[in-house]
Amino acid sequence: MHSVLAQGRGAALAGPSGSRAAPPRAPRCRFHATAQPAAAEAAAGSPLSQQQVEAFWRDGFVVVPGFASPEEVAALRARAEALVDSFDPATVSIFSTKDDNQAQSKDPYFLESASKISFFFEEKAFDASGALRQPKRLSINKIGHALHDLDPAFSAYSRSPKMAAVLRALGLRAPAPVQSMYIFKQPRIGGEVVPHQDSTFLWTDPPSCVGAWLALEDADRSNGCLWGLRGVHTKGVARRFVRGPEGQLVFTAPAPDYDLSQFDPIEVAAGTLVLLHGANVHYSGENTSPVSRHSYTLHFVESGLPWSPENWAQRPPDFPWRPLY
Ligand code: FE2
Repeated sequence: MHSVLAQGRGAALAGPSGSRAAPPRAPRCRFHATAQPAAAEAAAGSPLSQQQVEAFWRDGFVVVPGFASPEEVAALRARAEALVDSFDPATVSIFSTKDDNQAQSKDPYFLESASKISFFFEEKAFDASGALRQPKRLSINKIGHALHDLDPAFSAYSRSPKMAAVLRALGLRAPAPVQSMYIFKQPRIGGEVVPHQDSTFLWTDPPSCVGAWLALEDADRSNGCLWGLRGVHTKGVARRFVRGPEGQLVFTAPAPDYDLSQFDPIEVAAGTLVLLHGANVHYSGENTSPVSRHSYTLHFVESGLPWSPENWAQRPPDFPWRPLY
């Protein structure tokens, strides 16, 4: 973390190769210079213990059991169900992370979803004739990407005092949620999410992305839990996903070849929050089980830092991202 943020854009693009991380050095960049002292103060009385704050910076991710109550989990699930019920699948977009030349790279539906509540189908939702193989509610990969601003239930959770307290504990100055996703990981057809770093997609200079992944159902290896690579966040952001000269979204480098045997499974109960450093590398496998694995993910960045005009997600001037505090 320290070296990434201090090195800036060029070095961050150099990739995650290299030896295992050295122990943390003194913070040097703007984001990080404020982070750890603030974290030390905020941990007392926050939803995070001091040990959890330290684990986040050391490992690049931390698990917070019991962050959301069963009632909160049920409310978010019910709201997603209602949104799906009201969704008319006339406009179809299939979501996949497997191909760098993914369909949504040129798809206005995807690009406009930064400011909307949009629905994306699982890749395997359709048969050869283009018809859904199973009911609509079991075919959607995710809803995104502005639930946190447009839906009252998701906004209430996303901007809750305890979420703000978590980000304060991590030392963020003025975090704004810039992306939200309700992920279904449907039974039997839930698509994989290949290893990636969230800062690849949500770039600030220096990088400041923090992911807040909430399990809405128990997640384990059988139904496609997260897997995280411990400590890799100290080695930089390997590549970026940018808008090219003709508006097409492209990666700035090939995907690094990660050794999947080095990843830890993050098996958690519903209500557990997993906080992910933006340079952490994580993935989730296909769900071939008969059990779904719903989750709600938020991505925050420091709103005081420049938001790259090359990022896929852009908002019109009259619909800005708003910091939590
Ligand atoms: Fe991610």
